[in-house]
Formats: sequence, C-alpha cells, structure tokens
Amino acid sequence: MAKVVGDLRQRRKVEHVAAVRALGDHPASTNWFEDVSLVPCCAPELAVDEISIATEVCGVTLPSPIVINAMTGGADEVYAINRSLAAAARRHGLAIALGSGTAGVRSPEVAYTYSVVREMHPDGVVIANVGMGTDAETAKAAIDIVGAQLLQVHWNVAQEMFMAEGDRDFRGALAKLEDVVQRVGVPVIAKEVGQGIAAEQAVQFVECGVRGIDVGGRGGTNFIAVEAWRRGLQLAESWQNWGLSTAASLAEVIDAVGNRADIFASGGMRTADEIVKAMAMGAKAVGIAGPLVRLLGQPDGEAALDRYLEELHAELRTLLVLTGCRTWADLRKKPVVVMGRLREWLLARGRN
Ligand code: FNR
Repeated sequence: MAKVVGDLRQRRKVEHVAAVRALGDHPASTNWFEDVSLVPCCAPELAVDEISIATEVCGVTLPSPIVINAMTGGADEVYAINRSLAAAARRHGLAIALGSGTAGVRSPEVAYTYSVVREMHPDGVVIANVGMGTDAETAKAAIDIVGAQLLQVHWNVAQEMFMAEGDRDFRGALAKLEDVVQRVGVPVIAKEVGQGIAAEQAVQFVECGVRGIDVGGRGGTNFIAVEAWRRGLQLAESWQNWGLSTAASLAEVIDAVGNRADIFASGGMRTADEIVKAMAMGAKAVGIAGPLVRLLGQPDGEAALDRYLEELHAELRTLLVLTGCRTWADLRKKPVVVMGRLREWLLARGRN
C-alpha cells in the first residue's frame, strides 16, 4: 500500500509540471496589479550605482526580492528541474523554495531530488515546504534534507477538493501549524498556492506564530485547472476566478497583519512592474513559479531562464530610479494609487 501511495505521489509531481506547461496562465484571470499605479518621479537625484534591491524576510537577508517559489521534488523525472532552478538561484542570488518535502521524507530513495538544491546553492537561502496538517516531525525532516533556513506550510484546499485522490477532511490543521511553529526551529511562512489568503486567515496564521505569509493569490498558476487537466475534466469558466486576486490578497493581508509578519506576494507575478507595485504596497519579497518551469521546458531552457531573471533585475533597478527610490524602504514611503475593481473590493471589505 505504501508503495502504491508513493508511486501515485511521484506520478502527480510529474503531471503537475506537465499540466503547468500545457495550460500556461489563463488570459482572463489576472492578479489585479493593473489596478495599482506607482507615481513617477521625473527628478530622482539618484545614481543607478546607489540602488540596492536587497531585502529582509523573517530575519534573513536576501540579495534580491525574487524568490523561486515552491514547485517540485520527489520523483526521478523532476531532479533535473530542481538542479537547474537551484543553479539559476545561485547565479542570480535568489532564495529558492522546494516543492512539498513529504515525498522525500516518506520515500528516502527520492530525497536526492531535493538535496540537489542545497548542493547547487550551498550558501543560498533554501526554503523547505510541507502541506497543511503535516506533523512537526515530518516538517523537521523535510527541513533537514536541504538544511533549509525557512519553512513554508502550504494551504491548498481548492486543489485538494479537485484532486481525485485529495484530502476531504481539513480539521485540525491550524493546531498542527502551531505545533510546527513551536518545534521546527526555523521561521515558518504560511502560504496559499493560487487562491489567495484573506485577512481573517492571515490573522489566524499569525496567532499560530508564523513569521511570514505568502499570499499565493489568483491570477497565475491555478491548481483547480491543473487538477481538472489531470482528470480530463471540463472546468466551468467561473473556477478561473475562484479566490482572491494576488493584489487584493496582498492589500488585505498587509492591512491586517503587515506589522506582525513579513508578507510575500505571489500568484501570477510575471513582470518587474508587478514586483515593484507589490513591494510598494508593503511586500518584503515576491515569489514566481509557473513561468520558470515553463522556460526550463524550452530547448534552450537554462539560457532562457537566465535572460528572464537578468532582465527582471535590470528592470527592478530601472523602476526604482523612475520612482526616485534607492531602496525598497524608500519605495514603501511613496504613494500607491489603487483604482478599479481592487479599490471597490477593498472598500467593500472595509480595508483601505
Ligand atoms: C507549485 N506550487 C506549489 N506550492 C507549494 O506550496 N508546494 C508545492 O509542492 C507546489 N508545487 C507546485 C508545482 C508546480 C509545477 C508549480 C508551477 C507550482 C505553487 C507555487 O508555489 C505558487 O504558489 C503558484 O504556482 C502560484 O505562483 P505562479 O506559478 O503563478 O507564479
């Protein structure tokens, strides 16, 4: 039985990559950052050399706010992806989160598909990942496989509900989170995977002791669509819009707990413009997942990934010049203009 479950888990890892590559981002589902505007500064009084894009999250300093977000590990077929992602993380000075580590703990023969990330990025920030409801021993073991400095605990109820073999009982996960926070010995980040976190749950997560929240909002990779693809299910269009857009989730969560936890923006973050808007709203870092695994699927994958990350970093500096800011701390003091649906959403939720 354990072997059957292990095989199913490994096949799922491979199918997730295939689905994300086949589906791409849905054109009609956006993260709402188009409703956010920065105010340009035409007289910046700055030299590009003065600009720093470094940031700090949960007590860890990062040379760049871009985090390669949790994707994979746990099957032979995804080893090369983790190896390439970690090599890119080292070249560009990025933190990298791993896919859920439970497979590596339960099936030690695939632990090498995770530990390669530490081998390729020996001095970098590596973030381990486990699912909601995971016990502290398993979480600790997942951290130890890669010597992670931080742990993500992901909440993915919508994905589980659409997964044929998914969980159907979500009780007790908050108590488990509290136990994990107390026992793993590294700061813990609560994370969604593409449906967003509302202010109410952000408060609950912080009360469990998390130091970070990754909003994992709607507008990029959609695990409802990914699971439907795996089952050959025809999905009603409305499911493309289930959840909180990343910009709405980010605004809610920063308003609710931004002074008690470091907030990561993720979910459809693709351009420097979106990253800088999120940082201006108060995010401390920004996660990107789907596009990176799609770039690696191209024939010149590693080079394409390098070009993408290089260009993002160059444009982050450009946008800091164009807003007259030397650091992210300067940017957070600048005005951000919110319009359209995002403004209406925040007004309706009583959060301005
Ligand atoms: C993911 N994601 C994810 N998240 C998580 O917490 N644990 C996991 O194991 C995985 N697995 C995974 C596999 C693949 C192939 C992808 C693309 C993504 C979710 C990911 O971290 C992120 O929250 C979402 O993908 C939304 O970000 P993007 O893809 O829109 O940038």
